[in-house]
Amino acid sequence: MSFTGKVALVAGAGGGMGLNIASDLIAEGAAVTMLDVKPAPEIAGRHLYLQGDVTDEAFVRDGVAKTVAAFGRLDYLVNATGVLWFDRDKSLVEMDMDVWDRVLAINLKSFALTARHAIPEMRKAGGGAMVHISSTQALRGDAKAQDAYGAAKGAIRSLSKSIAIQFAKDRIRSNVILPGGTLSPMQARWEGKTELQAAIAGHIPLGRIGTTQDQANAVLFLLSDKASYITGAELIVDGGVTALP
Ligand SMILES: NC(=O)c1ccc[n+]([C@@H]2O[C@H](COP(=O)([O-])OP(=O)(O)OC[C@H]3O[C@@H](n4cnc5c(N)ncnc54)[C@H](O)[C@@H]3O)[C@@H](O)[C@H]2O)c1
Repeated sequence: MSFTGKVALVAGAGGGMGLNIASDLIAEGAAVTMLDVKPAPEIAGRHLYLQGDVTDEAFVRDGVAKTVAAFGRLDYLVNATGVLWFDRDKSLVEMDMDVWDRVLAINLKSFALTARHAIPEMRKAGGGAMVHISSTQALRGDAKAQDAYGAAKGAIRSLSKSIAIQFAKDRIRSNVILPGGTLSPMQARWEGKTELQAAIAGHIPLGRIGTTQDQANAVLFLLSDKASYITGAELIVDGGVTALP
């Protein structure tokens, strides 16, 4: 999989999966614009880091414009932004609906905003590919309700399929990955808790918790030309959990 000469925009690239994906794309020869609210992490290679809020359309529009100004084109989009607010994102009957709106803005609307501004540039480039990060939570309900998160992750699946159908004629592909639990800053509650992690791993057929590298590998495959006949698809990356009866 070579990404030499290609240009990617990665939203939510300040940590976790997004940072791993951006670093791998850079290592494989791409130039990458990274968007995140967090301050810039340590990163080498050809990139542009823009700190800001991806629910702000002006920031996203500017990010795409700066990408094209700096690197001349845009081929790929990765939506890795997300928040999982365990303390505030609860059952719809008890949660603050302002929290609902904010979670939907970050976890869903931002995906539409980045795609909306990336598509015209991908058309100019003669095609492109995107990967949106949903979750295995989109495949089922949750006994410990996180209703805004789950609703956003479900909606990403249909949004991606709609993008895939609408823009196939422009040679733009759109796919989704559905990660299971993955060690990242989002799951800081698992950090350093060896026994808890071993217990979680015991329920995973492949016997370990997923890493950001597992997710980045799937994303790079779906972006690459090796996946040139794959669009509107979903790849579960969960060590086999959702295959269990
Ligand atoms: N870690 C898991 O167990 C897991 C499982 C399934 C799906 N996911 C999804 O994977 C994606 C990546 O998550 P992660 O695990 O790497 O967690 P993460 O918290 O490290 O990454 C999410 C990034 O989004 C950024 N972000 C949040 N709000 C933003 C905003 N308004 N504007 C710009 N940036 C913003 C954060 O700063 C963070 O860097 C998310 O969509 C998440 O929902 C994670």
